[in-house]
Amino acid sequence: MEFLEVIRRRRTTNGHFLPDPVSMEHQHLLVEAASRAPSHFNSQPWRFLLIDDPEIRQNVAEIGGRTMRELMEGGRFFQRYRKYFRFSQAEMDEKRDGIFIDQMPKIIRPFISKVFTDTGLSLMNKLGIPKLLGNDNRKLISGSPLLLAVMLDKEEYIPEDLSGFYCVLSMGMAIEHIWLTCAELGMGIQFVSTPMEIPGAWDELTKLFKVPDHLELMAIYRLGYVPEKQQRPKIDWSSRHRKRFSQFVFRNNCETPEPEPDKRQLD
Ligand SMILES: Cc1cc2nc3c(=O)[nH]c(=O)nc-3n(C[C@H](O)[C@H](O)[C@H](O)COP(=O)(O)O)c2cc1C
Repeated sequence: MEFLEVIRRRRTTNGHFLPDPVSMEHQHLLVEAASRAPSHFNSQPWRFLLIDDPEIRQNVAEIGGRTMRELMEGGRFFQRYRKYFRFSQAEMDEKRDGIFIDQMPKIIRPFISKVFTDTGLSLMNKLGIPKLLGNDNRKLISGSPLLLAVMLDKEEYIPEDLSGFYCVLSMGMAIEHIWLTCAELGMGIQFVSTPMEIPGAWDELTKLFKVPDHLELMAIYRLGYVPEKQQRPKIDWSSRHRKRFSQFVFRNNCETPEPEPDKRQLD
C-alpha cells in the first residue's frame, strides 16, 4: 500500500478477527516497526509482551468481560465519558469529534441518551445490557489470536518528571507504528481499556503477565487478521469523523485558523 493510503486506512477494529494465528513473521514485523519509533535520547523505554497462549488470552478475556460489565452497571462509564457522545448529526457536524451515537447498534440507541439519568441506568441494568456488553467484550478478546501488552521501563518512566512525558510520547509513536503496520498486513487492532477503569483489575493483569517490578504495564491491545466482511460489534466506540483544519490548525499565531483546503476528503 502507498504510505498515505496506509495512514488513511488505519482504523480501530471493533469486530471479531479471523481465528487464524498471527504468523511469527508478522508478529516480528509489528515489534520491529515499533522499535523504529523515535524516543528521547534513543532510550527505547518500551517493552512488548506478545501473548498467543490460549489460556492466558482466556484469562485476559474474563477480566475484560467482567470489567466491561462492572463499568457499565455502575454508570461510571457514562458519567466519566458523557462529553464524548454526539447525539445528532447537527452536533457531529459542528464538533466533528467524539463518538456519534447513530453509529451505535439499534439495541443500545434508545438507552444511551437516557443512561445519564438514574432511571435510564436502572432500565439499562434491568434489561441486562451491561451483561450483554461484558459477554461481547469477553468473546472479542478470547477470539483474538494475539494480545499485546505494552510496558515502560520505570527507570525512564517517572510520571512527575519530563522523562515521564517523553516516555508516553515515545510509546504512543511506537504503538502508532504497530497500528499502521497492522493496516499494511491486513490486520486489525483494538485497545483493551476496561481493566484500567476498575480498581484491582490492572493488578490482576500485572500478576498474570508476571510484569517485573522495574516495568510498568501501560496498555493492552487485541490483534488479529480482519475478515473481509466485518460484522459490527454490539457497541462501536470508534468514529471516522475528523475535525476541519480550521478547528485544529493555525497559521503563524493561534488567532489565525487554517482554512479548509478545497480537496480535503472529510468522512
Ligand atoms: C488513548 C486511546 C484510548 C482509546 N480507547 C479505546 C477503547 O477503550 N476502546 C476502543 O474500542 N477504542 C479505543 N480507542 C480508539 C478510538 O476510539 C478511535 O481511535 C477513534 O474513535 C477514531 O477511530 P479510528 O481509530 O478508527 O480512526 C482509543 C484510542 C486511543 C488513542
